[in-house]
Amino acid sequence: MNTFNRTLVTGGTGNLGSYLVPALVRQGHQVRIMSRRPQPAETPYEWAHAWLESGAGLDSAVAGVTTIIHAATGSYNDAQAVDVHGTGRLLEAAARAGVAHFVYISIVGADRIPAGYLRAKFAAEQQIMAGAVPWTILRATQFHTLIDQLLNAASRIPLALPLPLDFQFQPVATAEVAGALARAATGRPAGRLPDMGGPRLSTLRELATTWLAARGLRRRLLHLPFPGKVAGAFRRGLNTNTEGQRGAITWEQWLEESYGSSGALHVQTATAKP
Ligand SMILES: NC(=O)c1ccc[n+]([C@@H]2O[C@H](COP(=O)([O-])OP(=O)(O)OC[C@H]3O[C@@H](n4cnc5c(N)ncnc54)[C@H](OP(=O)(O)O)[C@@H]3O)[C@@H](O)[C@H]2O)c1
Repeated sequence: MNTFNRTLVTGGTGNLGSYLVPALVRQGHQVRIMSRRPQPAETPYEWAHAWLESGAGLDSAVAGVTTIIHAATGSYNDAQAVDVHGTGRLLEAAARAGVAHFVYISIVGADRIPAGYLRAKFAAEQQIMAGAVPWTILRATQFHTLIDQLLNAASRIPLALPLPLDFQFQPVATAEVAGALARAATGRPAGRLPDMGGPRLSTLRELATTWLAARGLRRRLLHLPFPGKVAGAFRRGLNTNTEGQRGAITWEQWLEESYGSSGALHVQTATAKP
């Protein structure tokens, strides 16, 4: 076995993880997934049962790995416990185990948008940069799947689609971010990589309009003028970056692949959930 490529993926069971794990395998990594869930009977991967919020299982999870890709995240409510303190615990375990490379996925604008979850991502970045394990950090913009979830949630009421239509996004394909992370994990620690975003900036009005057409839904777009600094940041597009790396897959292509012409969901996220 090539020990250089023995890689622990936290969040390997998540949306990003479901693309990341096969991308790593394609690049020759021996993958170990870290999860709070029991090991599925059929999984072809090594499995580590661990909890970031308490630290239980972390030492066993990191034992013998050379690389960690940290893609686990808590909900917005437990970001402090999971994303901040949990990342600290994982870093300590990684340092004790002599891990050679810690790869982290963060979010564009984590340092500029005063939302609790983004502040937690920024705090996690700071710990990684100050820690003892050589690191690579990639910040990405919102995934297509997240915009899709947002629109699905807003469309639960009939007739109207109430949204802050002037928010800007640069949605990117989860698969392309996974590919970039897998390449980063295959190379040497590289510090902060250029931010990764989708091919285009769009307003939520534009994204919602094409989404409704792809879904075959009829709703009247209703602008919700959100107040506050966080909303202002999304209006100004502080969550975007057109100067970094660009994915190629557009929102329209993702909609076509996911919903086809029938408006029914064909492919939501996972191609290879363990
Ligand atoms: N979604 C986006 O638009 C976007 C954009 C840029 C960056 N990102 C970043 O990409 C990463 C992955 O996002 P995602 O949307 O793919 O996440 P996700 O689907 O919500 O998956 C979350 C993962 O975290 C694990 N997890 C949650 N709490 C945990 C805990 N206490 N201990 C151990 N594991 C825990 C879960 O594993 P189990 O349930 O199996 O334990 C799951 O695999 C995150 O860091 C996120 O901030 C996301």
